[in-house]
Amino acid sequence: MKLLFERSKEGHHQDLIPACDVERYEFEEKYLRKQAPGLPQLSEVELDRHYSALGRQVHGVNDGPYPLGSCTMKYNPQIDEEMARLEGFTAVHPLQPLKDAQGCLEVLYEAKKLLCEITGMADMTFQPAAGAHGEYTGLLLIRKYHLDRGDNARTKIIVPDSAHGTNPASATMAGFEVVNIPSNDRGGVDLEKLQEAVGPDTAGLMLTNPNTLGLFDENILEITRIIHEAGGLCYYDGANMNAIMGRVRPGDMGFDCIHLNLHKTFATPHGGGGPGSGPVGCKDFLRAYLPKPIVEKQGDEYILVTPEKTMGQVRSFAGNFLVVVKALTYILTLGKEGIIEASGNAVLNANYLMEKLKKYYDVPYGDQRCMHEFVMCLQGIKNETGVSAMDIAKGSLDFGIHPPTMYFPLIVHEALMLEPTETESRESLDEVIDIFVKLHQLAHQDPGYLNGAPHKCPISRPDEVQAARNPILRYEPEE
Ligand SMILES: Cc1ncc(COP(=O)(O)O)c(C=O)c1O
Repeated sequence: MKLLFERSKEGHHQDLIPACDVERYEFEEKYLRKQAPGLPQLSEVELDRHYSALGRQVHGVNDGPYPLGSCTMKYNPQIDEEMARLEGFTAVHPLQPLKDAQGCLEVLYEAKKLLCEITGMADMTFQPAAGAHGEYTGLLLIRKYHLDRGDNARTKIIVPDSAHGTNPASATMAGFEVVNIPSNDRGGVDLEKLQEAVGPDTAGLMLTNPNTLGLFDENILEITRIIHEAGGLCYYDGANMNAIMGRVRPGDMGFDCIHLNLHKTFATPHGGGGPGSGPVGCKDFLRAYLPKPIVEKQGDEYILVTPEKTMGQVRSFAGNFLVVVKALTYILTLGKEGIIEASGNAVLNANYLMEKLKKYYDVPYGDQRCMHEFVMCLQGIKNETGVSAMDIAKGSLDFGIHPPTMYFPLIVHEALMLEPTETESRESLDEVIDIFVKLHQLAHQDPGYLNGAPHKCPISRPDEVQAARNPILRYEPEE
């Protein structure tokens, strides 16, 4: 597909901005550019068609099912988007006097109160721009806490092998040494190994729960007890909160801090590390170390305060504010009962899909009830037919659904991880099931088709290694 620059035609344009009626200011010659900036010249309709065509080349949640485990793309209600478009939220400047931004501060305060109630935490920051950024911030809280008490020996963070991949990465970024511990035969944390791993050098544990196998750890209270007894703190990767919200609270399970992925649980777009939001909540004793500023309410007024021993800032101002507007709208529209219903549907949908697909695909730990997602192992199918997890995932594109997450978690070979989310109906789940049954048949009847899939997409199989190692990030126009 041609780029805008290649479509450009001298003289094509759209007058969107009225002629300037302010007296022209003449800059000194030395400040003037030597040549025109080379912007594409197109009419509005050409521009519109270009972007519509681009939009048709990708699969979004509005096009069909998107069972992408762990990364969770679910429908974002239009009302959330509408609220975030209100002028009072978009036209405000972060440096505006606080008395003029009371509505925005109220949003942050209300969102913090509700999310603290849902998670069982005492306070929260919205600065982190993504889940992994939240993990990093939470770990800095743990670090500050130990150093502040003069306990410099606590340098290790324990991370089970069923954790999300960002957990060990964030712990390393925050200056800790990662101690990996294996899962037991039920897919949970091996308590014996955990007990062996803890000691005076344990700063804490990071637990993804439900974990990347989609399982709620059966020994969660025992896990937090072991860590606390060793003097460490417990960090909860709360990205999968959509499986448990309104039912159990990490704070009540003994966790000291948590991050949330607003996109996974509270229906905001996934920011890909950028314009997302990974708020971090903590218990009262960690409050003093939170990033500054924190929103508080004093009488009828909303104010910004600097926590006493703050870690400083992990991002500018209050983070991605409009994402918080969307999340708050989502929480308020669901209400207390809706929050409970949403987590129930997330789990029900995943179990429905898992039970139906178990007849065709191997599901390790499939004898247990899963939470919001589950993992299939395609090693057997690959040995039998030569069709890999990647081939099935690519094949799903030809049937109009987005592929599940591939080759993750690493503890399952030839893994495909499916998360239908709570926003899919029974009919659309049946559609996904039909497609995966067809893919299973194809693997046995026409493996060659799947080895070369997809056949109906604009591109088929890009060289992924090349794309990761030598990405072409700069457009070079043809001379
Ligand atoms: C369990 C879990 N933790 C952490 C993350 C990282 O979040 P982000 O992609 O927003 O950095 C994800 C990804 O969505 C996740 O699924």
